[in-house]
Amino acid sequence: MANRQFVFGTNFKMNQTPQESVEFYRRLIGSTPIRPGIQLYVVPPVTSLAAVAAAAAADPANVWVGAQNMHWAADGAFTGEISARMLQALQVDLVLIGHAERRGLFNEQDVELNKKVHAAIEAGMQVLLCVGETGEERAFGVSAETVAKQLKIDLHQVNPASAAQILVAYEPVWSIGTGGIPATPDDIAPIASLIRETLRTMFGDSCRMVPILYGGSVNAENAGSFATIPEIDGLLVGRAGWTVESYTKTLEAALSARL
Ligand code: PGA
Repeated sequence: MANRQFVFGTNFKMNQTPQESVEFYRRLIGSTPIRPGIQLYVVPPVTSLAAVAAAAAADPANVWVGAQNMHWAADGAFTGEISARMLQALQVDLVLIGHAERRGLFNEQDVELNKKVHAAIEAGMQVLLCVGETGEERAFGVSAETVAKQLKIDLHQVNPASAAQILVAYEPVWSIGTGGIPATPDDIAPIASLIRETLRTMFGDSCRMVPILYGGSVNAENAGSFATIPEIDGLLVGRAGWTVESYTKTLEAALSARL
């Protein structure tokens, strides 16, 4: 919706050292004008979070720094995992929950994702919940059912009063990454509307507080076409956000299309 805040950022996945992430962050802040109505975010790997969050705390740009994943427990015998409390201590603003690579490669299930959502809300973070159907689910004609089911389980028993902490990214799995098939706005618009209506059944009018983002092979050439879909309030960019030049170009393309 053109009159709501536009949320834009990138997930670096398993790329960058802490030095590279901070360098990216500094160059981004130096080259992107801070404007009202735009919420930027970056999601570096966990090893970069402390350094980037410290850099972000020291400047007024209010770029959200996000984690790519977390565990639902506050602490305990979970070797290799990171808790919301640990992220909170680093002043991390946001956490991705249920990214397609977590679901597909690491077998994350909706019931566990629901626990993560509650833990992140409790810790005061923004939750960027990723949903989306696989190519197979799409071929069977159950895209809408898949996305509605993910939302209903992942956000189960989230209080509508916490809606302002939730963002939903629609990322059809078939459109993500180097093998991804670029989606068209006609593919995305009906699911974006379905997401809004599903959120309405869960949160009532507070569903309007939840930005819906699109992600999957977004770049400077197609960003405008996704950014102007009526229910789309932002973008979750992968590869095209990994250089400052391309991040900025993609952002500018989205913003100028929404003017
Ligand atoms: P991509 O990644 O833009 O490189 O397709 C998107 C994502 O995984 O969120």
